[in-house]
Amino acid sequence: MAAFEVHFRPMRVSDLEEVRALHEEWFPVRYSYSFYDAAVRERMVGTNEPLFTLIAEVDEDDRRRIIGLPAPLFVENETSRVMYVLTLGSHARYRRRGIARELLQRCIARAEAEPACGAVYLHVITHNDVAIQFYKSNDFECLGEISDYYRIDGSLYNCFIYAYYLPRAKIVTSMMTSTAPRATRRLLSSTLSSLFPAALRSCFRSPAVPSKQQQQQQQQQITATSEAA
Ligand SMILES: CC(C)(COP(=O)(O)OP(=O)(O)OC[C@H]1O[C@@H](n2cnc3c(N)ncnc32)[C@H](O)[C@@H]1OP(=O)(O)O)[C@@H](O)C(=O)NCCC(=O)NCCS
Repeated sequence: MAAFEVHFRPMRVSDLEEVRALHEEWFPVRYSYSFYDAAVRERMVGTNEPLFTLIAEVDEDDRRRIIGLPAPLFVENETSRVMYVLTLGSHARYRRRGIARELLQRCIARAEAEPACGAVYLHVITHNDVAIQFYKSNDFECLGEISDYYRIDGSLYNCFIYAYYLPRAKIVTSMMTSTAPRATRRLLSSTLSSLFPAALRSCFRSPAVPSKQQQQQQQQQITATSEAA
């Protein structure tokens, strides 16, 4: 393939059909028309939360073609914010050329610009080995597995939770050793609370499969996401 120049921009309303076709090609999960209609307006369907969208496109045959996109949003609770990557993909003809890596790095940079944000996280179906390799190669770590997270054509599938801790969160967690003085641990713990929600925090300390209660907390967090499917 000849060299090509990639342009980056937010989604716009005129992208709707192209974005929808790409999602249907990339993902087994079917999203409603209203999901795409809201996404191209940079909103989450149902909740109207702001989405941070990004499009990678190239000039091809006298027109611009979308070759990659993520649609992350920020998830807030009473004390903290994290970035949740709702979908991410690159066009089959342009894979292994660093497009998805660049898009993900731009999401991370956006998350870093958010002072109260401590992590970027996402769910990936357990048999998507390529995506798992991709996230691992971008320093995401697996926090655990959730049973029956996706329903596709009537069958249930497990997912892994992958997260990338922003440097500000990593510094705090690396200081959180059992030998640190109690007062220091208490202070660090309250700092962690302000960086990411309890569900992710508890997984981070114990990266084994989350308990039923943790799974329920995580499920509650992503209810809006699943409802969009
Ligand atoms: C997963 C996906 C987004 C990767 O996109 P991409 O543009 O090819 O990724 P990049 O070129 O940025 O790859 C970055 C690194 O990820 C890893 N990687 C990507 N594709 C891989 C593959 N097929 N096999 C093994 N490792 C892979 C490699 O380490 C790669 O670096 P390298 O090419 O220098 O070895 C793409 O395959 C895709 O869109 N798949 C369908 C949609 C999907 O599954 N999305 C994720 C759902 S959560």
